[in-house]
Amino acid sequence: MSGVPYRVIAIDGPSGSGKSTLAAALAAELGLEHLDTGAMYRAVALAVLRRGLEPDDADAVATLARAMSIEVSPGSVVVNGEDATAAIRTPEVTAIASVVAANPDVRTELVRRQRAWVEDRRGGVVEGRDIASVVFPGAELKLYLTASSETRARRRAEETGSQAEATASEMAARDARDTTRAASPLVRADGSHEIDTTDVPVGQLVKEVLKMLDTPDQGRHEFTRLEHRVGAKVEYKPPTRGSLLFFAVCRAIAATICRLFCRVTVEGRENLPASGPYVFAPVHRSYVDWIVLACISRRRVRFMAKDTLWSSRFVGWLLEALGTFPVHRGSADRAAFSLCVKILAEGEPCVLFPEGQRRSGPVVEDLLGGAAYVAARARVPIVPVGIGGSERVMQKGKALPRPYKVHIVVGRPIYPLATESGSRVPMRVVKEITAQLQGDIQELFDRAQRRAGAA
Ligand code: DC
Repeated sequence: MSGVPYRVIAIDGPSGSGKSTLAAALAAELGLEHLDTGAMYRAVALAVLRRGLEPDDADAVATLARAMSIEVSPGSVVVNGEDATAAIRTPEVTAIASVVAANPDVRTELVRRQRAWVEDRRGGVVEGRDIASVVFPGAELKLYLTASSETRARRRAEETGSQAEATASEMAARDARDTTRAASPLVRADGSHEIDTTDVPVGQLVKEVLKMLDTPDQGRHEFTRLEHRVGAKVEYKPPTRGSLLFFAVCRAIAATICRLFCRVTVEGRENLPASGPYVFAPVHRSYVDWIVLACISRRRVRFMAKDTLWSSRFVGWLLEALGTFPVHRGSADRAAFSLCVKILAEGEPCVLFPEGQRRSGPVVEDLLGGAAYVAARARVPIVPVGIGGSERVMQKGKALPRPYKVHIVVGRPIYPLATESGSRVPMRVVKEITAQLQGDIQELFDRAQRRAGAA
């Protein structure tokens, strides 16, 4: 893991709202690079035209997007080795760019490339339509720009040398496609600051935004206290051959029992990162949640478990042999969180139940910030997981499990890029990631419950 912090500024808004101008000026002020993600969708649209493909032939366009090379740098766009800076701005390309951008597989591919672009540069000012909502929900600052439709049409017409009236009606059609499409539509993300740029000179806008970056928010203060409590040093035991083998054997036994006893089925395995660390964040309705997770992946995952379980010598030994580590409930246990960050930094996945303890019923609410905090601190993705039916298998207070079906749904990872200089993670970031996690887990849990026949 790199210890270099990322600084990401996310700017979204419709065309002509002033994103590119602001992004370029901010990037220059902050010593960062600027990525125009719209240019990437335009690059795919250009390649579609050049190949003579139908823009709505989803499979062919997605295949093309995966295979092509796109290099976007300030002032130049190179597509498959050819300078396409001017070619991607023609009316023909503009007309189909929003059709191409509604293709979910194209979006998946371009979002992956956008994240890689930021990773390579250790940060950046990124503009588009879904940057704050999908690509970098954990960005340090999220802006949503708007402007009156006349102003937007005038700006675009000045850029392209066309008539403002014609531009206005084309823009309205593209806006409608961008805001109503199913995949990552243009929306103001939670936590985005909305700025109307209609009558604001660029210089003033940049000054205001720089002020926003300098002003610590209230939550940050609160969070610093938590960080002091969780920052202590703890010992990390690297995996040995013996411990990995022991885990592998126990996991295989657990998975077999679960499949036979609860007919466990798993959906969404492809969402698990193939390698590297991540935080597993499952819903928690039963003790069997620990065990059924064995059916998802063969990799060793490290669990955090309440320290009172260590009161039995045998259980304590077993848990430790499995790589589990204790957390003291009821407080932010600095040693446990610190160890968790260390484990992730060493490349191992970790399980944290964001509800903090077993809960009951269909609603996922009041998540604790621990999972989001460690993920942002270690700069790793969080994988939300819904486990359906486990409460029927073993309710709170019951001593023996009953053979009901369990269905697990693994969700798409959330990438909370830590965005502060230094290792501090602002409370605002933790809150935003936690809110997103809560929504995702609820959706996955609902689906898993239905598929398990427990809804
Ligand atoms: O910002 P622009 O006009 O260059 O964007 C071209 C198209 O790409 C436009 O229809 C919106 C779409 N787009 C998108 O869907 N998501 C982004 N992150 C950026 C642009």
